[in-house]
Amino acid sequence: MIDNTIILPRRTIMAALQLSRSNDVTVVLLLLLCTIITPFSSISAQQHVKDPSITSTMEQFSGYAIHEPHSSLSSLLVDAQGLQNQIDELSAFSDSPAPSVTRVLYTDKDVLARRYVKNLMGLAGLSVREDTVGNIFGRWDGNEPELAAVATGSHIDAIPYSGKYDGVVGVLGAIEAINVLKRSGFKPKRPLEIILFTSEEPTRFGIGCLGSRLLSGSESLANALSKATDSQNISFLDAARSAGYAKDVDDLSSVFLKKGTYSAFVELHIEQGPILEAEGISIGIVTAIAAPASLKVDFEGNGGHAGAVLMPNRNDAGLAAAELALAVEKHVLESGSIDTVGTVGILELHPGAINSIPSKAHIEIDTRDIDEERRNNVVEKIHQSAIRITETRGVKLSEFSIINQDPPALSSEAVIKAMETATRELNLTSKLMISRAYHDSLFMARVSPMGMIFIPCYKGYSHKPEEFASIQDMSNGVKVLALTLAKLSLE
Ligand code: GLV
Ligand code: MN
Ligand code: MN
Repeated sequence: MIDNTIILPRRTIMAALQLSRSNDVTVVLLLLLCTIITPFSSISAQQHVKDPSITSTMEQFSGYAIHEPHSSLSSLLVDAQGLQNQIDELSAFSDSPAPSVTRVLYTDKDVLARRYVKNLMGLAGLSVREDTVGNIFGRWDGNEPELAAVATGSHIDAIPYSGKYDGVVGVLGAIEAINVLKRSGFKPKRPLEIILFTSEEPTRFGIGCLGSRLLSGSESLANALSKATDSQNISFLDAARSAGYAKDVDDLSSVFLKKGTYSAFVELHIEQGPILEAEGISIGIVTAIAAPASLKVDFEGNGGHAGAVLMPNRNDAGLAAAELALAVEKHVLESGSIDTVGTVGILELHPGAINSIPSKAHIEIDTRDIDEERRNNVVEKIHQSAIRITETRGVKLSEFSIINQDPPALSSEAVIKAMETATRELNLTSKLMISRAYHDSLFMARVSPMGMIFIPCYKGYSHKPEEFASIQDMSNGVKVLALTLAKLSLE
């Protein structure tokens, strides 16, 4: 499976990570360079070997006629086993036992995982910088560095007890795509930039795509975050500072991207659904991303003794929440479309004792649709149900907040075309599809032409430990990404 060999020894990386606790990235990089001098010299030797197939690839990159399309493009050499090793190593930075992964924003494990990725970006020859919330950028300046860059990337945070591929394939795979291009001798015209987005998952502060949402210029998020706290009452800014970010800053608008920073953005991701695997198709080309919304609801009742308070005298906040959860399912099904979905993933009862009637209930609701109006209709019906439940159950609706209610995003025709051409030239099967999961691409589409490359994953599993993508599928995805980036960087 290894097409080429740039494998960093696990112990070397681990040792470097230990040392890098000093925060001195330069020292770490120097140490890494010294300790892995042998593999490195063999890499640079490989890079300078004149391979006739690489010449053909360069013809292709330069836009010359392709004489033997498939043989020339097979020279995009992916170190697929090395990528798998990195994915496995990154999964060790987790707060839950393997095979599950739990990596929450700004925790120690998140900081270590970020350090791991920054080291790999450095080893790929990228210049690395971070913004005030910890979006990480690794840049390869092109021949015309003043041009808008072509960007790619994804996230490495992982919801509780999830898997090791969600997001990670789009970050480590992007670094490998850059390595592939460098090994092939390619020189971009536009700069290529990899972005590790902060907190795509909403786990800690309740809002998804935190980093990309800010990059896209969300004033409301910048304001909300300066007051936000997590479930332990730790403020966003304190949490960010504990991870080395937001130093001497409380104005998060510095994160907003300047207009025209990127000429295109492409994200590689596992499908998180079953279609590609079931149909035996290698690559999904995403045309649109469904519109997500999330809600927080709190009910309050009088509580009381589970034995002594008789049923007619209760106003049970827990039952109000349970009734609302069932109403979510009902309203979603009423839409009549298979594309409408709704989930109650959080339901917390207070005081949480078997012999105490819940006096408070907190639920969080996620609902999505490819059709924004239909999704908004569901949100409105959920609100009406919450109000009705307060009347029938005698509870108080102490909070009903819409945390986010985002429109869907469309991929750019030009990026779709580049992905389709790359897939065809690589002789891979592909299919146009929508993304039902949300991604940082949803927000990057607000500031750049956007596209996404999906690869199959086992049974469509995601957000659980059984999540899996094969080395072959990841290798295909990296090749399509590399070739797409190469094409877009020459435009
Ligand atoms: C992203 O993780 C999503 O929930 O779609
Ligand atoms: Mn996810
Ligand atoms: Mn993801």
